[in-house]
Amino acid sequence: MKLEIIGLTKKYGEKTAVNNLNLSLTCGVYALLGANGSGKTTLMRMIAGVLRPNSGKICLNGKEIGKLDAEYRNILGYLPQNFGYYKDFSAEDFLYYFCALKGIDGTYRKERTEELLKYVDLYSERKKKIKTFSGGMRQRLGIAQALLNNPSILILDEPTAGLDPKERIRFRNLMTEMSKDRIIIYATHIVSDISFIADQILIMKKGEIVAEGAMKELTDKIRGTVWNVKIKKETLATMQKQFIIGEAVAESNDYISVRLFSAEKPFEDAKSCEPDLNDVYLSYFGEVSNQ
Ligand SMILES: Nc1ncnc2c1ncn2[C@@H]1O[C@H](COP(=O)(O)OP(=O)(O)OP(=O)(O)O)[C@@H](O)[C@H]1O
Ligand SMILES: [Mg+2]
Repeated sequence: MKLEIIGLTKKYGEKTAVNNLNLSLTCGVYALLGANGSGKTTLMRMIAGVLRPNSGKICLNGKEIGKLDAEYRNILGYLPQNFGYYKDFSAEDFLYYFCALKGIDGTYRKERTEELLKYVDLYSERKKKIKTFSGGMRQRLGIAQALLNNPSILILDEPTAGLDPKERIRFRNLMTEMSKDRIIIYATHIVSDISFIADQILIMKKGEIVAEGAMKELTDKIRGTVWNVKIKKETLATMQKQFIIGEAVAESNDYISVRLFSAEKPFEDAKSCEPDLNDVYLSYFGEVSNQ
């Protein structure tokens, strides 16, 4: 299976949200990582076929998705970022309703709904109204909805938003189990969600994919540019004007140790650090303060 995105562009008025984007995806889990407004949702809505691009195309195994129409929709699962949750529906009725929309009926409807409610661990809660659910339970129900038709292409727009650490781990496990023989694309701006799940990381900035690769490939690119230095607290503001600064940890009342980016060793006593995904993110989205 191959999903190709070719010269894809979407504008909202004067604003270019996705800019001539090219991407080729095969089976695996792709994390789409980008700051707010970088175009993740816009890109995902186009891949899900609910938003038309201004130009460019998306092809599955060489055929345009618009032309495949129902054939494409049948293999697609989509969890939108802002998902209406039909508050007065029970979890079970909600899934039955989506079964109807997706043309799943007969005994299979009951079977599949039961199977998924168990899978996302909501079976004992299936008769409860959605309005009584926690954010994590709603997200899990949303994931079940996206999986109803056992999609080979699964698009999840910020599936872990609002989840507590325990729910996040549960989500990770779900993703790992699901990842065989599918293309899974999920958007996030939470770096810690990625390390365990994604095969490939796509970094999106201002409507473009600015970097793409496995975690190690991305950290390799910035190896040698991440440093740790111990500085006096009051010098932090000055340092921020000169360097992109990552995490700062208090060492004592007067001193902090900071992580910073520099192509060359910035200070005599700076120690080189092994880069992680947080550093990769900061290297693309961090800014030098101009105040
Ligand atoms: N319907 C719309 N009309 C006008 N502008 C829009 C619309 N939807 C998105 N935009 C703009 O397009 C850009 C990309 O938005 P998009 O929602 O795709 O980003 P995102 O990466 O998903 O952000 P977030 O992390 O906040 O979800 C933003 O500048 C946004 O303001
Ligand atoms: Mg979004």
